[in-house]
Amino acid sequence: MAEKVKFSSKIGLIAATVGSAIGLGNVWRFPSETQENGGAAFLLIYIVCMLILGIPVMLAEFSLGRAGQSDSVGNIKNLTPKSKWWIAGTFGLIASYMILSYYMVVAGWTFEYLFQSITNGLYDGYTGEDPLFFRNKMGDYISSGYSSVLWTYITIIISFVVLVLGVKKGIERMSNILMPLLFLLLVVFCCTTLTMPNAIEGVKFFLFPDFSKISIDVIINALGQAFFSLSLGMGILVTYAAYYPKQTNLTKTAATVSGLDFVVAFLMGLIIFPAVMSFGGGVDNATLQGTTLVFETLPKIFTSMVGTGFWSISFFLLLTIAAVTSNISIAEVAVSFIMNRFDIKRTKAVCIVLFPIFFTCALSALSLGTIPELSIAGLSVFDFLDTVATNIFLPVSAFSICVYVGWILPNDFIKNELSNYGKIKAPLANVIKFLIKYIAPILIATILVFKIISMI
Ligand code: PHE
Repeated sequence: MAEKVKFSSKIGLIAATVGSAIGLGNVWRFPSETQENGGAAFLLIYIVCMLILGIPVMLAEFSLGRAGQSDSVGNIKNLTPKSKWWIAGTFGLIASYMILSYYMVVAGWTFEYLFQSITNGLYDGYTGEDPLFFRNKMGDYISSGYSSVLWTYITIIISFVVLVLGVKKGIERMSNILMPLLFLLLVVFCCTTLTMPNAIEGVKFFLFPDFSKISIDVIINALGQAFFSLSLGMGILVTYAAYYPKQTNLTKTAATVSGLDFVVAFLMGLIIFPAVMSFGGGVDNATLQGTTLVFETLPKIFTSMVGTGFWSISFFLLLTIAAVTSNISIAEVAVSFIMNRFDIKRTKAVCIVLFPIFFTCALSALSLGTIPELSIAGLSVFDFLDTVATNIFLPVSAFSICVYVGWILPNDFIKNELSNYGKIKAPLANVIKFLIKYIAPILIATILVFKIISMI
């Protein structure tokens, strides 16, 4: 078999992994979770969750991927050829495909909003008198008709091109260009929203903790958010880590990736809360809920700003970058699996992975209003895929990876991987091993039980 492709530079591998981690989890899930769960008190718990769950599980996935040199299933087959533990890798693979089947649709919306901002279609006819103006636009673009299917297809085609170009020329090059642009846009936004009239009220809400709101639910939500935001259990990190060169310092990489992911979520808080306090009608559930926040509240806020078009284009560009880089990483999970499993070329594997996605994405997109009959167990196909993948498959996948790495692989596996077999120092290896072996499985199992209880 040909030698495994590697990312060509340290910056490239970090940009690609950060590109996967930074997604809608940072832009829309984080602000609404923070608002619902007590502002800064949630933020503090979130930081603790990143340290005790996020980084250790990320390191379990990195170690497994780099040692296994394959894909989410192949890594385990390579390390323990005679066992059935490869089944643990199938959960991430299945979850990634389910997520891909609706996240492409969301990326399509972001593209459509970017396009409508450029052509000014989004603001066409806005007089400020109709309070439902942007909600109706959202209805037109997202939940009725076939335009969201068209934009989803455009997104799939763009992803196709990047994936066919491969790890270095496609994923790495795209991330090297788009990630700095995303950070630049964030900083420009932050400087602007922080000078808005009521900015300080928003910052206060975001940064002053209300400890009375802390409850077991808040902790579970913070754990779930850390989990989603770092792309854990999705098969992505094990797949990307197989492209890491053997001299990569895994601990530093995990700290950098989760640090940058956190910075983006934090900056989003500094953008959203002041903006919503100043022009968006205050911080409450209604204005901050995911889709409402980005597709209704924010466009309304942009109309109050000088240079509406510029801000709208910049924001939806930022959102599109976040969504597309995450999407491509999640598609790569199946692409790499198909390439290894059937020993076929990348282009063919990308076709095998993406062609059915045209169909599954159309089902998800149309299930949101155009064809309401497209539902499973009382949920639209879109929500069903989201609920089952994120609430069940992701925790089961991460749980089994922690058990596999912590208990099944040799006792010194983590230490060897983190120290590159003694070539670099890994002072935290024992702590991380403890967290992977005991703490992470307990926390993940707790999230799983709570999610299942809340679903029934
Ligand atoms: N970490 C990503 C986010 O915050 C999670 C994700 C990755 C979701 C890839 C979908 C696809 O959005």
